[in-house]
Parts: sequence; structure tokens; C-alpha cells
Amino acid sequence: MAVTIAPSILSADFANLEAELGRIATADWAHVDVMDAHFVPNLTLGLPVVQRLAQVSPVPLDCHLMIADPDRWAPSYAEAGAHSVTFHAEAAAAPVRLARELRERGARAGLALSPATPAEPFLDWLGEFDMVLVMTVEPGFGGQSFLDGCLPKLRRLRSAVDEHGLEVRLQVDGGVSAETVERCAEAGADVFVAGSAVYGADDPAAAIAQLRGLAGG
Ligand code: DX5
Ligand code: ZN
Repeated sequence: MAVTIAPSILSADFANLEAELGRIATADWAHVDVMDAHFVPNLTLGLPVVQRLAQVSPVPLDCHLMIADPDRWAPSYAEAGAHSVTFHAEAAAAPVRLARELRERGARAGLALSPATPAEPFLDWLGEFDMVLVMTVEPGFGGQSFLDGCLPKLRRLRSAVDEHGLEVRLQVDGGVSAETVERCAEAGADVFVAGSAVYGADDPAAAIAQLRGLAGG
């Protein structure tokens, strides 16, 4: 299974985002956390910033939308050039229709599940998505502690994906570090988001390489 490392720029210096993207050029994707102060109690950045980041980033953008009404707003992120656009199951009115719209616009469609959101209602629909994001903290902030209680859900998703021979990536996001990444890989993740563990390191490239190695990549 290919290992994808996606550092989250939530922990980067927002005054120097182009340079901060340059520091993670050895990663596979750059994870961009869009928060709207409605779906989560935090506000980060939005479409105009993503449009510019897509033009200057050395790696594809993996946009994680923690926003209300993604049915309305998410397609624009696909048009902005995001490689993948992930919206929250708890916020979407019509997740399958939205996933199809994102794919029609050339992006990979991702479905995010907050810690208390079960995977079961979506198991019959996994083929509509390119990725499922299993949140391993409550969404909204970087630097929180990893929630081991999310791992059984990840295992169930891995079983379902493999059982049906699907090519759906399984992403973990929140508290992923050298301490926790092996547990995530063992439970079936193949895309690893890390904010503070990468941008909080003296050498982000070394942190990326360490995570990749521990994840089995
Ligand atoms: C949290 C965000 C995460 C966050 C992860 O809501 O979705 O992407 O940046 O940060 P760490 O790795 O510090 O937990
Ligand atoms: Zn995220």
C-alpha cells in the first residue's frame, strides 16, 4: 500500500505560506484546513487563498473543508485546482451528489468523519469517494491529543474497502506523530496528515521522512 504524507499548513506561519509550502516539498500533498467559524469554532482561510496556494505549491493541495453547507461551497475548491476536496459527512445535505460534482470538476472527492460519526451509513457508498478522512481529534484545532477510540472505525473501513476491491484512500488527521503513526498504519490508514509534528519540528523534511518510514512507506 502506498504511503502518502500530507503535512497540514494549519501549523505553518500564515504570514509566509509560499515559503512554508517550500519547506514540505518532499511531502506528497499539502493538507489545507479550511474552517468557517460555523461548522467548527475556528476560522482559517478560504477560496482566494486556496486559489493562490494552488498556483505556487510544489505539491498537490489536499483541501479539508470544515465548513457548513459544503454542498454550496465545495465545488469552487475543485475549480480552484485542489487535488482533493474533502467535506464533512455531518455537514453535507447530499454527500453522494456532492462527491459526483467534485469529481466532475476534476478533483478527488473525500468524505470526512468526525470522531463520533459512524462509518456504517456510508459503507454502501464508498465507491463514490476517492478518500475517507477519519478524524482522530475533534475538528477545529491543531496540536490536540490523538483519540485511539477512532481506530476501530478505521479498521472497519479498511475491511470494507479491501473486501470490495475499492481504491479508496483512508486518511487519518489529528494528533498524528511519530508516537501514533504506526497505530494508524496498522489499523489501515494510507494517508497521514500531520500539522504540529511536521511544522513544529526543527527539520520538517526529516519529520516527513520519519513519519513515512514509521508508516511503512
Ligand atoms: C484539525 C485539522 C488538522 C490539524 C492537525 O481540525 O483538521 O488537519 O491541522 O494538526 P495536528 O497534526 O497538530 O493534530
Ligand atoms: Zn485537517
